[in-house]
Amino acid sequence: MGEYLLEISYLIASVLYILGLKMLSGPKTARKGNLYAAFGMALAILATIFLYVDEEGNKLQNHIWIFGGIAVGSVVGWLAAVRVKMTAMPQMVSIFNGMGGACAALIGLIEFPHYFGHGGSILILLTIFAGLVIGSVSFSGSVVAFAKLNGNMNKDIRLPFYNIINTLFIIAIFAITALLLVGTLTDPMYVYLLALISLAYGVLFVIPIGGADMPVVISLLNSFTGMAAAFGGFLYGNMAMLTGGILVGSAGTILTVVMCNAMNRSLTNVIFGAFGTGGAAVGPGGSGVEKSYKEIGVSDTAVLLNYSQSVVIVPGYGLAVAQAQHVIHELEELLEERGVSVKYAIHPVAGRMPGHMNVLLAESNVEYDKLVEMEDINPEFETTDVVLVVGANDVVNPAAKNDPASPIYGMPILEVEKAKNIIINKRSMNVGYAGIDNELFYHEKNSMLFGDAKSVLVSLVAELKTL
Ligand code: TAP
Repeated sequence: MGEYLLEISYLIASVLYILGLKMLSGPKTARKGNLYAAFGMALAILATIFLYVDEEGNKLQNHIWIFGGIAVGSVVGWLAAVRVKMTAMPQMVSIFNGMGGACAALIGLIEFPHYFGHGGSILILLTIFAGLVIGSVSFSGSVVAFAKLNGNMNKDIRLPFYNIINTLFIIAIFAITALLLVGTLTDPMYVYLLALISLAYGVLFVIPIGGADMPVVISLLNSFTGMAAAFGGFLYGNMAMLTGGILVGSAGTILTVVMCNAMNRSLTNVIFGAFGTGGAAVGPGGSGVEKSYKEIGVSDTAVLLNYSQSVVIVPGYGLAVAQAQHVIHELEELLEERGVSVKYAIHPVAGRMPGHMNVLLAESNVEYDKLVEMEDINPEFETTDVVLVVGANDVVNPAAKNDPASPIYGMPILEVEKAKNIIINKRSMNVGYAGIDNELFYHEKNSMLFGDAKSVLVSLVAELKTL
C-alpha cells in the first residue's frame, strides 16, 4: 500500500512540476507556478521520508538528521531569498544552482562504494559517474560564477593555452570514467580523483568567461545540474527526481539557446570568445573624434511627454539598479490619465538576467499587456512620438545593425532611432555592459536626460502634476 502511495505522490509531484513550469512562462501565473512546483517538491520529499521502504523492508530511520538538514536549508534559503536585491538575483540563482550540483555529486560519492567493485552493472556505474562528474562541474562552476557576479572576482582569468588545458581536462575525465567502467582501474581512489578533476574543470571552464556572458553560463550550468539530478533519479528509480531533473535540464538548455540567439552569439563563442571582457571595448570618444550631444531638462521632458500621443518606455539595467520600477509606473499612469498611450518595449536581454524587466515591472503592477516584445514593438517606433529610454544602453545601440566591427554586431536591438523624439536617461555618457560607445546618444533626434533614474523620474512625475 505504502509503495503505491509513494508512486502516486511522485506522479502528482511530477505533474505539479510540469504545471508549475508552464505557469512560469507568464508573469500573471508565475508566482502560482512557483508555488505549484515547490508544493510538488515538498510532497516528493515528505513521501520519500515517510513512505519509502528499501528491498529489505526498512523505512528511513534518521529523521532527526533529515529534518535538521531541511530546517537549516530552509532558514538559509528563506533568509537569502527575502533579503536579495533584484540586481543580485543572478548570483543567487547561481549559488542555489551550485548547491543542486553539489547534491548530485554527493549522491555519486555516497553510492559508488555500493556498486563499484561489488558487481554493479556498467549502466549503473555510468549513471553514478555521470551524475558525479556533471554535478561536480556544475558546483564548482557555479561557485566561480557567483564570485564573478558578486564582484568578489573581477578579472576574467585566461591561462595561457586555456582552451588546450580545458580540452585535456575533458579528455582526462572521459578516459578515467571509461577505465573505471571497463574495470582497468579498480582502486576507489580513482573515483575521488575523477571528482577532483571535475571540480577543477568546473573552475577552469568558468574563469575565462567574460562578465556579460555569465547569465548564459549560469543557465548552462543550471541545465548541467538538472542532468546530474536526472541521473540520480535514474539510479534510485525515483520518478519525481527524474522528471524534475529532466525539466531543469531541458529548460536550462532552451534558455541558454534563447539567450545566445537574443545576443546573436553561438554557445561556442560565449564559451571560447572574448565578449564582455573589455577586449574590444571602445569607450565614449574612443575614436578620438569629439562628438556632440544635446541635453534636456526635466521640465522640457515633462512638456514633451504631456503633449505626445504615444510614448514608448525602454527599460534597462539602470532602471533596476535605481529601483525606479514603481515611479515609472506612476509616470505611465499619469500620462495615460492625460490621454497619452504608453507602452514598454522589452528587449529579451535587457538587464542582467532573463526576464529581468518583466519581473521588475510586474513587481510594480504594470499591466502585462503594456509590455511589448521587441519584434512587435519595432514596427511601431516610426509612429511613436517619444521614446523614453531609462537606464538602457546596449539594447538600443544601432551599432548592432550598422557596424560590422562592433562586438554586438548582429544582436537584434530595439530600433528606437525610428521614433520622432528620443530621450535617454542615464547618469553619464558612460558605456553599458558590452563596454562600447553608443551612436544613439549623438543622434539628432536624441536628447540626454542626465541623472539617477529614480530621482529623475520622481522629479518628472512632480513636474507633470503641475502641468
Ligand atoms: P546596459 O547596456 O548595461 O546599460 C545600462 C545603462 O544604465 C548604463 O549605460 C548606465 O549608464 C545606466 N545606469 C546605471 N545605473 C543607473 C542609474 N542609477 N540611473 C540611470 N541609469 C543608470 O543595459 P541594457 O541596455 O539593459 O543591456 C543589457 C546588457 O546586458 C546587454 O549587453 C546584454 O547583452 C547583457 N546581458 C544581458 C543578459 C540578460 S539575460 N538580461 C544576459 C547576458 C548579457 P550610466 O553609468 O551613464 O548611468
